[in-house]
Amino acid sequence: MSRIQVLPPGLVNQIAAGEVVERPASVVKELLENALDAGATSVQVELEEGGLSLVRVSDDGSGMEPEDARLALERHATSKLRDASGLAAIATMGFRGEALPAIASVSRLRLDTSAGGELGTRLLVEGGRLVEEGAVARARGTTVEVRDLFFNTPARRKFMRSSSTEAGHSSEAVLRLALARTDVGFSLRSAGRVVLSSPAGASLEDRAAEALGREAHRHLLPVSGRRGEVRVRGVVTSPEHSEATSRAFYLYVNGRYVRDRGAAHAVLRAFAGSLPHGRHPAAVLFVEIPLDRVDVNVHPQKLEVRFADARSVYDALFHVVAERLRAAPWLAHRPAAEAGEGGPPVPQAAEEVAGILEAARALHPSEAETASATVAGLAFPHPASDAALGPPRRGYFGALRYLGQLARTYLVCEAPGGELVVVDQHASHERVMFQRLRQAFRNRRTEVQPFLVPPVVTLPPGPARALESGLAEVERLGFAVEPFGGESFAVKSAPAALAGVALGPLLTDLAQQIEELERGHAVEEAVDDLLATMACHGAVRAGQAMTEEEVRSLLDGLDAVDFKARCPHGRPVVFEVPLTELERRVGRR
Ligand SMILES: Nc1ncnc2c1ncn2[C@@H]1O[C@H](COP(=O)(O)OP(=O)(O)O)[C@@H](O)[C@H]1O
Ligand SMILES: [Mg+2]
Repeated sequence: MSRIQVLPPGLVNQIAAGEVVERPASVVKELLENALDAGATSVQVELEEGGLSLVRVSDDGSGMEPEDARLALERHATSKLRDASGLAAIATMGFRGEALPAIASVSRLRLDTSAGGELGTRLLVEGGRLVEEGAVARARGTTVEVRDLFFNTPARRKFMRSSSTEAGHSSEAVLRLALARTDVGFSLRSAGRVVLSSPAGASLEDRAAEALGREAHRHLLPVSGRRGEVRVRGVVTSPEHSEATSRAFYLYVNGRYVRDRGAAHAVLRAFAGSLPHGRHPAAVLFVEIPLDRVDVNVHPQKLEVRFADARSVYDALFHVVAERLRAAPWLAHRPAAEAGEGGPPVPQAAEEVAGILEAARALHPSEAETASATVAGLAFPHPASDAALGPPRRGYFGALRYLGQLARTYLVCEAPGGELVVVDQHASHERVMFQRLRQAFRNRRTEVQPFLVPPVVTLPPGPARALESGLAEVERLGFAVEPFGGESFAVKSAPAALAGVALGPLLTDLAQQIEELERGHAVEEAVDDLLATMACHGAVRAGQAMTEEEVRSLLDGLDAVDFKARCPHGRPVVFEVPLTELERRVGRR
């Protein structure tokens, strides 16, 4: 007998499943794509235990005749591709005829389908084996029920995370498709709860609000344009908003959600320094190019594509977004001094900050202010109580004579030797806060401020789920947060150093960063990044007026931290002009 054998189809399907079906969300994605390819106008998704015990997708699409239903479960059986020439111009979501048999090989699957008429077809498949076939009454359309995913592949099953995390991935899969197909109605129920429900004909803005959250939604700008054969349309957030990670970046190529670093980078470049270093915009962008200019057959889950001419795509993205940003009013208002990386743009931020301060000074945030719940008061270092950092020294900063605030952004001072010293108020406060938070974290004595009336914050759906599974982690950072139904959380206490901070946006950023920690890795490994985020949110903004007393304690605080020249994001916080330089400038020398 020869040593080489052709594998039986059942095993081949399981191997394919290893690539195509990574987790319940992959099932949701493939089944939804099939529903959309079948011309559905409305699709319902239901999950139990995050999809591990059940994923059910129902559509009102074309349905299948009995013969086709049987074929659909066979490998490489597809209605979407006929010959090799078809592969060069794929307009459907699916084309490999791989998903249904792969899913069926690692689950107990029930397919109910009807192409119209009296009766439909029901097929039951267990671990890839057809176990029952019959007729069923149902309206035109298809329902696929996938139970006990990976029941026969325990190794894969072990890699599944908690139900809520898996549900989160599935809801992300639904959102990705829902953003692209506003003409189709989508609903998602998880453990009996409606997670998402959006009727056919919703606007992109409505769907974007679901995907990106209310906070980003307030800052969305429509973009649209074309360069050569590349068309770009969609929405991006203005530079007033930013995200801690790139996960709120949704890119579609000919209607297909894809990940593409080059494209993300092109969009980021369009923001050219108007976002703080390391921050990302939220965006939903659709690129349309001729079908034969892109190869969609390069990734098992069809999450990546290869462009015939990637440069032209990136160029188009860059120019369309950059032009939109140039036309936007806030850039014109920005003082030149702010043009580099830095805090939010000044004029609008000042008003916003005034509002936040207003809210902060109300000692116990009421439920009416839930969206912008803050800790009361602005926290400046109190050297006397700052035991962790040692007694205050009147060092370099303490010896400065404070002259005043420039552009509500820079603290202008005179050093004893007559040098002009300019301190960036945001960056330096951030530096001080970062050091204090890190000291406290290392000594396990983060000072917390409990709230008499815990403010309730509502997060965008993705971060909300991330926070739900990362509650222990944020607790380590000094927050006591409890789920409050839906995407809301009650904040029982927060680090005292973060007084004055809008908790919703902060927790949104932290939750996203925590989610990106590798499985099993501890908060400690990324703690500097997390604390830097907290410091950034906690620090006084550019554009914010400061009292002399606040400036004084900030300067004293700078003396108490080491490595004071740079903020945690790496940019300098202070700069000095020697008297001789001034003298030279005015021609005294
Ligand atoms: N919801 C559905 N409605 C109608 N037909 C479907 C549906 N799901 C699957 N099919 C049929 O089954 C075939 C196989 O599906 P699948 O394995 O996902 O492969 P592909 O989508 O790549 O063709 C499809 O080509 C389609 O004809
Ligand atoms: Mg398919």
